[in-house]
Amino acid sequence: MTEKHIVWHEQSVEKKERQEKNGHKSCILWFTGLSGSGKSTIANALIRRLFEEGKQGYILDGDNIRHGLNQDLGFSPEDRKENIRRIGEVAKLFVDSGTIVATAFISPYRKDRDLVRQLVDKDEFLEVYVKCPLEVCEERDPKGLYEKARKGEISSFTGIDAPYEEPVQPEIVIESDKVSIEEAVNQIVTTLEEKQLLR
Ligand code: PPS
Repeated sequence: MTEKHIVWHEQSVEKKERQEKNGHKSCILWFTGLSGSGKSTIANALIRRLFEEGKQGYILDGDNIRHGLNQDLGFSPEDRKENIRRIGEVAKLFVDSGTIVATAFISPYRKDRDLVRQLVDKDEFLEVYVKCPLEVCEERDPKGLYEKARKGEISSFTGIDAPYEEPVQPEIVIESDKVSIEEAVNQIVTTLEEKQLLR
């Protein structure tokens, strides 16, 4: 709940000034997709590429954030909603700081993702759907979690006994079972360039 007697402070340095200094715009690249679809891998390759081109980027990653900021949250629909809400607010701060922020969360609910979209300007939010068939994610099973979920050792696992709602109109779709990591990164960079976010 927003407390009374709290006043918003404007900062002495504006977002636009930070963007001008960085030489590019700032935005949220909101990666969404099943566990094992490749969200973190592609986000990391992208941010490395941007870094090497002198661009300021940062990754907010599901597993890492759940070790700290969101360590009090589990995987119920309510907790996932709160997880995404907090990340959305943090991502918005990164945009204000002039950074291209890539967030890598399953974010299975359309409504939760749409709420984040509304936090920033229209051209500052790009939904990146890392599309990969469940069978392929399950085959990859990098953390052995699908196996545990199938055995009933983990409950409410996305794709097994918890839902994943596909994006309706994502800005970018990456079919991670069909393209290489490099091709995926090129696809995102091309979209960023087309939207004039890299200058
Ligand atoms: S969510 O749905 O957006 O709140 O999830 P997120 O914060 O991205 O965390 C997903 C990672 O947590 C691990 N994990 C689970 N995922 C889905 N369902 C259940 N029940 C679950 N329990 C643990 C899993 O490693 C996810 O990591 P990724 O990187 O997506 O594979």
